[in-house]
Amino acid sequence: MPNYPSSIKSKLPKVGTTIFTVMSQLAHENKAINLSQGFPDFDSSAELIGLVNGAMKKGLNQYAPMAGVMTLREQIAKKTLSLYGTEYHPESEITITSGATQAIYTAIASVIREGDEVIIFTPAYDCYEPAIELNGGKTLFVQMFAPTYKIDWEQVKKLITQRTKMIIINTPHNPTGTVLEEEDMLALEKIISDTDIVLLSDEVYEHIIFDGKQHQSVSKFPGLAERSFIISSFGKTFHNTGWKMGYCLAPKNLMVEFRKAHQFIVFSANTPVQHGLAEYLKNEKNYLGLNDFYQKKRDLFNSLVKDSRFEILPSSGTYFQLLSYKNITDMSDTDYAIELTKKHKIASIPISVFYHQKVDQNILRFCMAKKEETLQQAAEILNKV
Ligand SMILES: Cc1ncc(COP(=O)(O)O)c(C=O)c1O
Repeated sequence: MPNYPSSIKSKLPKVGTTIFTVMSQLAHENKAINLSQGFPDFDSSAELIGLVNGAMKKGLNQYAPMAGVMTLREQIAKKTLSLYGTEYHPESEITITSGATQAIYTAIASVIREGDEVIIFTPAYDCYEPAIELNGGKTLFVQMFAPTYKIDWEQVKKLITQRTKMIIINTPHNPTGTVLEEEDMLALEKIISDTDIVLLSDEVYEHIIFDGKQHQSVSKFPGLAERSFIISSFGKTFHNTGWKMGYCLAPKNLMVEFRKAHQFIVFSANTPVQHGLAEYLKNEKNYLGLNDFYQKKRDLFNSLVKDSRFEILPSSGTYFQLLSYKNITDMSDTDYAIELTKKHKIASIPISVFYHQKVDQNILRFCMAKKEETLQQAAEILNKV
């Protein structure tokens, strides 16, 4: 096909194929164990699949209400109140989305204008910056470093100007597996208290947190909640990333703007899945057991690789585990991730790709949302390296 119009100018000139696609493809070509992309290699619950199927058979197959099926919004309100002590009204403060990615894009699109500045923390999940750019915003970066990946709040304070419109945080954090503590939230609350900054809090791993730590949801901090979009994803919680189902919580005034954009981005999310999730959420055991479930996987994986030449970094949440290979080679993390995939048949993600200016501390991210036997096979390989 001829290229037409030839003069089209990319709005995202720096964006190419993501590292997740590249590494998964490389894993496939090399028949490598794929611990790169973040998805489980086990199935979602048969009960939940049955509930979705049941909804389909009942004929719940047409457009859902724009903001989402009410029974699902009610269950989310109940869960949020019981876990974090904050009331969000299903009618006006909760919207169901087609995954967290759509919710993040929609939140950014609903408030960011040409020239607005948005502060993000790197290493960062990869969908924030393109969404900011597509909406004319400018991304400012605060870097975090291994092994603690702590946020330097003094640096954040210095970056804030009249143009700062939004700050995006993510806890538990992909790719590092760190979590924000209460003191972080209080520091942030103080910094933005006399500004008009809107917060976007990516909490998709809210139910995957270890060692008895509490998830510090923004919803627990009134000074933050009043100006925040809080975003979560059922895909992470119920092992069905392919269903692309998530939600956004926000105070009414922000939610009004969010829904104006949402209705023209997707209008509404998948109806039978929403009905199935609404039923499934009624049993809190279906999500409260997730911390233990993944902590066992983390502990298994770490116990299996503890005598290898890789160094285990602390992981407090998410289904990712970072390993440093600085005792093995000083190759760049991207080259080493490729070598591990081709030569040793195990795929991971290099951490440098999550930074704006490539920071390479010789660290790779491994996804441990895998069956026990997959983790054992992976560890066997890593022990031989
Ligand atoms: C931090 C973070 N935010 C958002 C998402 C996107 O979630 P979803 O698949 O529901 O769009 C992911 C998925 O990997 C993630 O890790």
